[in-house]
Amino acid sequence: MEIINRRKRMMSVARRLRREEHRTIGLVPTMGALHEGHLSLIHEARALCDVVVVSVFVNPTQFGPTEDFAAYPRDLTRDSALLAEYNVDYVFAPAAEEMYPPGAATFVTVEGLSNELEGASRPGHFRGVTTVVAILLNVVRPHFAFFGQKDAQQAIIIKQMVRDLAFEAEIVVLPIVREQSGLALSSRNTYLDPQQRQAAAVINGALLRARAAYDDGEHNATRLIDMVREQIGQEPLARIDYVSINDATTLEKLDKIDDQPALLSIAVFIGKTRLIDNVVLGESKKNVVSANA
Ligand code: PAJ
Repeated sequence: MEIINRRKRMMSVARRLRREEHRTIGLVPTMGALHEGHLSLIHEARALCDVVVVSVFVNPTQFGPTEDFAAYPRDLTRDSALLAEYNVDYVFAPAAEEMYPPGAATFVTVEGLSNELEGASRPGHFRGVTTVVAILLNVVRPHFAFFGQKDAQQAIIIKQMVRDLAFEAEIVVLPIVREQSGLALSSRNTYLDPQQRQAAAVINGALLRARAAYDDGEHNATRLIDMVREQIGQEPLARIDYVSINDATTLEKLDKIDDQPALLSIAVFIGKTRLIDNVVLGESKKNVVSANA
């Protein structure tokens, strides 16, 4: 496994792999602090591609001024050891100046979709995400890039960007990996103390209850959302940012769920930690994967 810090080196390695060796490249973009959710993406990339590149970069442009950029967990030594165990070929871990050279002034924005849900709560967030992913796709030139359904809106926005700007990569989206309690794995879970971690299980519990109600025939979005709000409301450590039901592909807000799959998504503060989760209503339950599976 080679750890690459420079854009130029990454680009020349990728060029050689593609042109001379005709190898299929899989990219897994991450911000590090790796957990089983990331590893599930890497596992799939390993199965599908000849060469696996994992990027580890805490991207400053996707954090708001009052968000946790400085506090975000960083441990490249631990991450690299895990990645070596997973037979990753290249770790691309650039410094910020390498991704954004002095004077960098170009941003990529997917309009519309970027202002909904997470975008409404975190202005500018998706502009940072699409910009860094566009740079990564240009530097690594992967055939496949892997993303998690954990960040459902991010995956939708990246697919749209790839279509609109004619990137070659195929975007693969994989199910959410959860703890046994149902809590979706996240690098930000490290901020939770044991009591908060226990409380955070209410998030998935509420989503699952709404899904059960949906499966029993409740297709009215307001009633399903109220059900989620009520259950979260019973946990004193939890404070809801938003609960929403949207079309799972267009993110159009839904009042009633008819035939199309719907995304029930939620953002909740547990103490100061902001956590997100989602379930898809109206599709098979393949979306539930246990970290211990
Ligand atoms: P990060 O939060 O590190 O996540 C990297 C990838 O892992 C994302 O595609 C995310 O959806 C996926 N992931 C995180 N938790 C998961 C879980 N519990 N189950 C399955 N997949 C999970 O998302 C980002 O970084 C950044 O925005 C990035 C795309 C790297 C751009 O900076």
